[in-house]
Amino acid sequence: MLAIIGGSGLCNIKGLEIIRREIVKTPYGQPSEPLIFGNLGGKEVIFLARHGANHTLAPHHINYRANIWALQSVGVKSIISIASVGSIEKSIKVGDFVIPHQIIDYTYGRNNTFFDGIDNPVKHIDFTYPYDMSLREIIIQSVQKLTYNFVTEGVYAATQGPRLETAAEIDRYEKDGATIVGMTAMPEAVLARELNLSYVAICPVANHAAGRGESAEGISSAMLNHSSEQTIKNTIDILVHLVKTHGY
Ligand code: HPA
Repeated sequence: MLAIIGGSGLCNIKGLEIIRREIVKTPYGQPSEPLIFGNLGGKEVIFLARHGANHTLAPHHINYRANIWALQSVGVKSIISIASVGSIEKSIKVGDFVIPHQIIDYTYGRNNTFFDGIDNPVKHIDFTYPYDMSLREIIIQSVQKLTYNFVTEGVYAATQGPRLETAAEIDRYEKDGATIVGMTAMPEAVLARELNLSYVAICPVANHAAGRGESAEGISSAMLNHSSEQTIKNTIDILVHLVKTHGY
């Protein structure tokens, strides 16, 4: 079964016919909200709003372990994460969709493993390629039929937040090789890998990163918090297309 984890601006999916909600108890506490079992484009999917139904959870307060554990416990095998980002690389424009292939993790103090030697024995999982490469390929093939602007590679700098970055931090991330910046890819991606779930991300670009382009003088919160109606509509369109054409 496929799960969609929705990020900022995507606390619910228009067009998702809700079948039921399930509160899942986990050894790690509560997920961001009850899991929503629904029907999207004729296919059963599970939806989870990462920041909670009313967007009340800051990125560093999200219980990533509970979210991923809950999804696995109800039979999810694949996850598409929707996570809005700022663009670092000049060629990546606001409104584009990036399908990242790599992550650099700058977060700290988050519960970032199931294998911490307390609940489970220590285990060093392979994370060379943080996103599921075959699911990425399927998604890339599938979205090429759509007219939205997809960037089919990206290095996601995962920052701690909730504040936005300084211009110098963005310069540093760029030197490190990052092309986009967001706050939620980690530890979500690694926890999915630890539980053997296929995990990919589609990242709508909400803004230019701090100090870049239209954000040269600052980033307006209006721009960030309200992914434009159009971007949300396009994201849902992409998801419907994906579930219809691939029936995970
Ligand atoms: N920085 C961090 N996270 C973000 C940004 C950003 O510029 N835009 C959307 N999420």
